[in-house]
Amino acid sequence: MSSTPDPDALAALRREYGDAGLDDPDLSADPVAMFRRWMHDTVVAGLHEPNAMVVSTVSAQGRPSSRMVLLKGIDERGFVFYSNYDSRKGQELAGNPHVALLFPWHDLQRQVRVEGRAEQVREEESAAYFGTRPRASQLGAWASPQSNEVPTRDELEERYAEMEARFGSGDVPLPPNWGGYRVHPEVVEFWQGRRGRMHDRLVYRRTGEGWETVRLAP
Ligand SMILES: Cc1cc2nc3c(=O)[nH]c(=O)nc-3n(C[C@H](O)[C@H](O)[C@H](O)COP(=O)(O)O)c2cc1C
Repeated sequence: MSSTPDPDALAALRREYGDAGLDDPDLSADPVAMFRRWMHDTVVAGLHEPNAMVVSTVSAQGRPSSRMVLLKGIDERGFVFYSNYDSRKGQELAGNPHVALLFPWHDLQRQVRVEGRAEQVREEESAAYFGTRPRASQLGAWASPQSNEVPTRDELEERYAEMEARFGSGDVPLPPNWGGYRVHPEVVEFWQGRRGRMHDRLVYRRTGEGWETVRLAP
C-alpha cells in the first residue's frame, strides 16, 4: 500500500524519472510538428486538461505574472488562446507582446516551454471560435469584466442575468473586448525527465531561414 506523502515535507517529495529519452534523431523538423506529436501523446495518455498551459506576461514595471489558459489552436504560425482583451494579461500584452508559455505534463514527465510574441488574431477567427462556445460561456464573456474588482458575487450574477435578458434566445455575438491571441514561437524547449536528474532538454531556436536545435544541460 502506498503511503500518502506528508504535505508539510515538500523538500522530501522526490520522484525518480524514467527511461523515456529524447534524442536529436527523435526531433521533428520544426517545433510545431514536434509539439503536435507530444500533444497527441498527452491526449492519448488521458491527462486531465491536456491543453492547459501557463501564460506569463510582463507589466510595464517589468513584473511578471502567470495564469492558466487553454490552448485552442496550433499551426505553423503559432499557439492560440482566447481571453478578455481588457484583462490584466490583455493590458500587459498590449504594452509588451513578449510572452512565455508552459505546458506542465507531469504524468508524462515532460514539459514544453515556449517563448515568443503574442498578437491578436483576426476578428473573424475569434468570432468563429466564439460561435462554437457553449452559450453559458458566451454570456459569461459578456458579463465578466475580467481582472476588475467586483464588490460581490451577487453583482456578477446580476450582470450575467442582464446579458441573458439582453440576448434572449438570439445568437450571442462576439464581445468587442474578447478574442484570441496567437503566440508566434521564437524558442521552444522540449523537456523529458530522465534518471538521476539527467534530463533531456532539446531547444528549437528560430533562425532567419528556419529552426536550429541545441541541447541544454538539465
Ligand atoms: C485550467 C484553466 C483554464 C483556464 N483557461 C482560460 C482561458 O482559456 N482564457 C482565460 O481568459 N482564462 C482562463 N482561465 C482563467 C485564468 O487563469 C485567469 O484567472 C484569467 O484569465 C484572468 O487572468 P488575468 O487577470 O491575469 O488577466 C483558466 C484557468 C484555469 C485554471
